[in-house]
Amino acid sequence: MNTEEKKELLEQAFHAMKHAYAPYSHYHVGACVLCRNKAMYIGANIENAAYGVTSCAERNALFAAYSNGMRKQDIKAIAIVSDGECIATPCGACRQVLSELVQADTPIYLSNGKEEMETNIATLLPMSFSQEDLDHE
Ligand code: THU
Repeated sequence: MNTEEKKELLEQAFHAMKHAYAPYSHYHVGACVLCRNKAMYIGANIENAAYGVTSCAERNALFAAYSNGMRKQDIKAIAIVSDGECIATPCGACRQVLSELVQADTPIYLSNGKEEMETNIATLLPMSFSQEDLDHE
């Protein structure tokens, strides 16, 4: 992952953040999934008056990537950005989704425009529930 690629990935996530539909929380999140073939899939948080059906930015971006035929081995990196005072880390539900759809060591860049950090899903969700846990024999 070179500096230019990472810069572009974060820019796309901030671009997506502008599309956030957040009339309730007024908290805007954007995400971008970069694939090895250079394709990028963006997502923003989309809220609902029935709060529970709100959909997070990173989930929307990942589902867009998968809906376009991408799979975990095709994903090179993810950026998740927000406009809060501190860096937002993915919510519990999104960590579970990331653990299923993204490789353990795929870089996840987080930024709020002031600070930035790199992590991965192995760090964010250790001992996650996965397909192997469903094995009976
Ligand atoms: N949100 C995300 O989109 N991603 C996260 O990782 C944290 C939370 C959204 C959901 C809701 O629209 C707003 O941020 C406040 O929780």
